[in-house]
Amino acid sequence: MYNVRANGARLWDSLMEMGRIGATPNGGVGRLALSDLDKQARDLLVRWCEAAGCAVRVDRVGNIFARRPGADDTRPPVMTGSHLDSQPLGGRFDGAYGVLAGLEAVRSLNDAGLRTRAPIDLVVWTDEEGARFRAGLMGSALFAGLHRLEEALANADTEGRTMGGELARIGYAGSEPVGGTAVDAFFEAHIEQGPVLEAEGKVIGVVLGAQGQRCFEVTVEGEEGHAGTLPMTRRRDALLGAARMIDALNRVAFRHDPPPVITVGVLRVRPGAPNTIPGRAVFTIDSRHPHDATLVAVEREMREECARVAAGAGLGATVERTSERASVAFHEDCVAAVRRAAEALALPHRDIFSGAGHDACNLALIAPTAMIFVPCEKGISHNEAENATPEDLAAGCDVLLQVLVERARVAG
Ligand code: HGY
Ligand code: MN
Ligand code: MN
Repeated sequence: MYNVRANGARLWDSLMEMGRIGATPNGGVGRLALSDLDKQARDLLVRWCEAAGCAVRVDRVGNIFARRPGADDTRPPVMTGSHLDSQPLGGRFDGAYGVLAGLEAVRSLNDAGLRTRAPIDLVVWTDEEGARFRAGLMGSALFAGLHRLEEALANADTEGRTMGGELARIGYAGSEPVGGTAVDAFFEAHIEQGPVLEAEGKVIGVVLGAQGQRCFEVTVEGEEGHAGTLPMTRRRDALLGAARMIDALNRVAFRHDPPPVITVGVLRVRPGAPNTIPGRAVFTIDSRHPHDATLVAVEREMREECARVAAGAGLGATVERTSERASVAFHEDCVAAVRRAAEALALPHRDIFSGAGHDACNLALIAPTAMIFVPCEKGISHNEAENATPEDLAAGCDVLLQVLVERARVAG
């Protein structure tokens, strides 16, 4: 075991200071990707990284790389990091913990005067949540060679502002090419965002992998009409059709064991007037399952249900798949390193599979990758009430320190 430990109070203070950027009245954060608040968070982190002796570079999609130099910077970096953007009503720890645990690791290595052979890169990935520009995990996906950069930069929010325009506006349209560079390994610390670790009294989750995900946008076309004059039997009500589809999709989940998780999180209605029968309804679907074959079957069944409801109500319906990500297994060497570190630190731990998606899922496509989970209160996340204890957060950072130093090796 390496003689270096996190400063838990400093980590907690950094999390609370970061949490003041975009703080919401109920104790959460609302820091949408590439917003002014995301800029403030990025600027704060860059200042902290530079104060810790890191050289900072930004790539064309705004991913931030803060490098702690090693004895031999020609070696591929060992990377750690996560995201600073949040859900509209998110928590203070989702993403920010992984970024600030990485910063705390750099600060602790500096305090210990410990030099690694390979450099360590602390990374902030752009637009992990997809809450504004609709396709999540975007910065890490582009870094991993998925999607085309120009298409991603043209991606617009509901007000028509593009990712490229917003990157330039907040000053994070970097010059570095996106991806294409060697990465020795990537480790991401994150709250579990589920109830298992807390329920079992475990402090560390040794993450084996993450389930697959397919997202869709469904457009239901009916016909606008007068709420007072059109008889119920002659309506083509798009919102009523969407409601029946959403109920049917929810029942599709229970045809499978174990069931997928299916979420409809966004619904837009046109024209959205109380006395006009809706002519159009658009809703999103987020479906996830550990087995890719089940995700394929669920997609087929959901499409069938939407077509059945549409045909029965004289409506049009189109189902567009907007993203898909296969389930992923993290690298056995990195997973074993996390388990070894938890054992060496005598931290109660268990293997766990992630229900949530993470930037690590993309990094796993191009480099040995693993994650370190810590508990969050009642498993609550994507919710302003999201909470974790300073002790658990520091323990996760101690595990991160051990695996980073082991992988980057101590310089003689
Ligand atoms: O949706 C997810 O799984 C991640 O929290 N963005
Ligand atoms: Mn996250
Ligand atoms: Mn999240």
